[in-house]
Amino acid sequence: MNKKFSFCLLIALIAMIVIPSIASVISQRNNISNALAFRPSKRIKEASRFKNKYKRSKGNKIRSNVIEPFVSVVNPNHNYPIGRLFFADESEEISCTANVINTSNGNIGLTAAHCLLDDNGNPLNLSLISFSPGYDNRTNGPLGDIPVADIAIPLQDNNNDYALVRFAFNDPDRRGARLQDYTGALGWRFDIGNIEQTSVFGYPGDGDMEDCARDGRHLCKWQGITELYDTFYSISNVDLGDGASGGPYISQYDIETNLGYVYAVFGVYLTGSKLSVADIWEENIFLGLLLSMTPNNII
Ligand SMILES: *[C@@H]1O[C@H](CO)[C@@H](O)[C@H](O)[C@H]1NC(C)=O
Ligand SMILES: *[C@@H]1O[C@H](CO)[C@@H](O)[C@H](O)[C@H]1NC(C)=O
Ligand SMILES: *[C@@H]1O[C@H](CO)[C@@H](O)[C@H](O)[C@H]1NC(C)=O
Ligand SMILES: *[C@@H]1O[C@H](CO)[C@@H](O)[C@H](O)[C@H]1NC(C)=O
Repeated sequence: MNKKFSFCLLIALIAMIVIPSIASVISQRNNISNALAFRPSKRIKEASRFKNKYKRSKGNKIRSNVIEPFVSVVNPNHNYPIGRLFFADESEEISCTANVINTSNGNIGLTAAHCLLDDNGNPLNLSLISFSPGYDNRTNGPLGDIPVADIAIPLQDNNNDYALVRFAFNDPDRRGARLQDYTGALGWRFDIGNIEQTSVFGYPGDGDMEDCARDGRHLCKWQGITELYDTFYSISNVDLGDGASGGPYISQYDIETNLGYVYAVFGVYLTGSKLSVADIWEENIFLGLLLSMTPNNII
């Protein structure tokens, strides 16, 4: 019997008596190769989130800002805004997922906040982090590894597991060239409601994504419906997997352009309630973070 399956059985049994304990989450996640995608702060998260299990959001999410996707200037037929995030001090197995979003700065991306924080909740040394858009099957994307210049993370209160990243991209041959001119960039929006047809991409090392090597080195895809809860979007009964952390939840994904609208990023799989959770972005906070890292104060 496979370990995960027997774990699920165990949880099912426990769930009949008590709410799954934090300890049960820790015991499943004690392997070092899972450490990054599931730091201690995340372990506490399930307990606090679990209270909200049946608390669906009632509000209609009607908001204004919708930013269109951006098609690569360098090669309009080849967009690759999604990539693997590497950590030089960690084992090669450990990674996260990030993606480039359309901004006038052009070098801005998204990932999960916990990917950028150490066990004490302090930001990692940025010189250890790099991004390879288009990475797949042990092969770097066309641009290789791009350093990270800056990060902006909302106050961590268990409901804000996302972060903005500014990449230190430069092309010596093209002055002023921006990362998104090469990779293209996802559009982004804040107005997604309940029951949204969604595509998620990431580099999981485990979990349930189908047709996926699950070795943290292959780009994998999940497609289906997300549900809206009070503070997050969720995918039921699917563990997107460690390494898919930061993977974009994309609405209106277009297979031709490889673009769409990102509206959340994968943060954590709640083993008790079996939800792959992506926190809702509070629009003003998100825009504030963006402005804090784009000196010209233009979206
Ligand atoms: C962690 O898990 C991987 C694969 O599941 C295994 O190869 C590795 O030996 C484990 N490491 C530890 C420290 O248990
Ligand atoms: C996003 O890209 C589109 C082109 O697809 C462009 O017209 C628009 O100005 C961009 N939005 C921002 C905020 O840069
Ligand atoms: C970050 O890492 C680099 C390279 O290992 C090192 O030179 C630098 O001192 C570190 N910075 C901090 C603040 O620890
Ligand atoms: C990964 O690349 C190798 C060649 O480098 C190839 O043989 C293999 O089929 C690829 N695997 C997948 C899942 O694409």
